[in-house]
Amino acid sequence: MDLDLKAKSVVVTGGGSNIGRAIVLAFADEGASITIGDIDEVQAGRVAEMALERGAMGVQVVKTDVTNLEQVKAMFSAAVDKFGTVDVLVNNVGWDQLMFFTQTTPEFWQRIIQINYVGVLNCTKVALDVMIPRNSGAIVSISSDASRQGESREAVYGGVKAAINSFMKTIARENGRFGIRCNVVCPGVTVPESNEEVGDTSMWAVSDAMFTAEQFEKIAKALPLRKLGRPADVANAVVFLSSNVAGHITGQVLSVSGGYSMAG
Ligand SMILES: NC(=O)c1ccc[n+]([C@@H]2O[C@H](COP(=O)([O-])OP(=O)(O)OC[C@H]3O[C@@H](n4cnc5c(N)ncnc54)[C@H](O)[C@@H]3O)[C@@H](O)[C@H]2O)c1
Repeated sequence: MDLDLKAKSVVVTGGGSNIGRAIVLAFADEGASITIGDIDEVQAGRVAEMALERGAMGVQVVKTDVTNLEQVKAMFSAAVDKFGTVDVLVNNVGWDQLMFFTQTTPEFWQRIIQINYVGVLNCTKVALDVMIPRNSGAIVSISSDASRQGESREAVYGGVKAAINSFMKTIARENGRFGIRCNVVCPGVTVPESNEEVGDTSMWAVSDAMFTAEQFEKIAKALPLRKLGRPADVANAVVFLSSNVAGHITGQVLSVSGGYSMAG
C-alpha cells in the first residue's frame, strides 16, 4: 500500500520522546520531511539523526514551547521555509502527573490546560492558516483513553483530553470543505522500551513516576489483548490517518489501547 507520504512536510510536536519519537521515526520510514517542535532540543536532535538514517527526506528541530503562540508561528515558518509547506500536523505534546483530584491545585490545572489544550489550539490555528489556502492537509491530535473512560488520578488531564476530542471534531466539520482532515488517536498506557527513548522533560523520565512495575503488570492483564501498548502501535495509527489511504476519514477518535476502551 502506497501511503504517498514521500517528501510530504510533517510537523510533529513533542517528537523527542516516547510516542512522539516513534511517530517521527514512522514518518521517516515513509520518506517524509519532518519538523520536530520540542522544548528538549537535545533529545529531539538525537531523534532527528535517527530519522535521517531511517530514510527521512529531511529533518529539522525547532526548539518550541507549544504553549507560546509566537514560538509556534516561528516553528511553522521554519517548516514552510525549509520544506515548502506543511502537509501534516501531529499534535503530540502532552503532560500529566498522576494525582487524585483532591490533591491537585489550581496551578496544576493551569499547567495541564496550557500544555495539553492551549498547545493544540496554538498549533492547529497556525496549521490551518497554512493548509486552508492550499485546500489540503491532515491534522492528527494525540488524546488519551483517559478522555473516554474517566481514569482515576487523571481527572483534569482526562477532561482536557476530552476537550481535544470535541475540538478536533469541530475543526473537522469546519474545514472538510478545504480538503483538510482532522482525527484523534487515543493511546492507552504506552511505555517506552528503553531509557534512550525518553528525554529529561518526558513524563517518563522519573522512574515509577507514572506506574510501578507491579501496576504495569496489572494494567496489562486487565486488557483484552493482555499487553501494554508500544510507541510504534500509536505511531502506525497516526501515519495511517495522516496519509491519503485515510482520505475519506475525518472527525474520528481512534483508540490504540489493546481494547481498553471500546467506543461504539
Ligand atoms: N505514554 C502513554 O502512556 C500515553 C497514554 C495516553 C496518552 N498519551 C499522550 O501521548 C502523547 C505523548 O506521550 P509520551 O508518553 O510520549 O510523552 P513524553 O512525556 O515521553 O514526551 C513528551 C514530549 O513533549 C515535549 N514537551 C513537553 N512539553 C512541551 C511543550 N510545552 N512544548 C513543546 N514540547 C513539549 C517533551 O520535551 C517530550 O519530548 C501525549 O499527548 C500524552 O498525553 C500518552
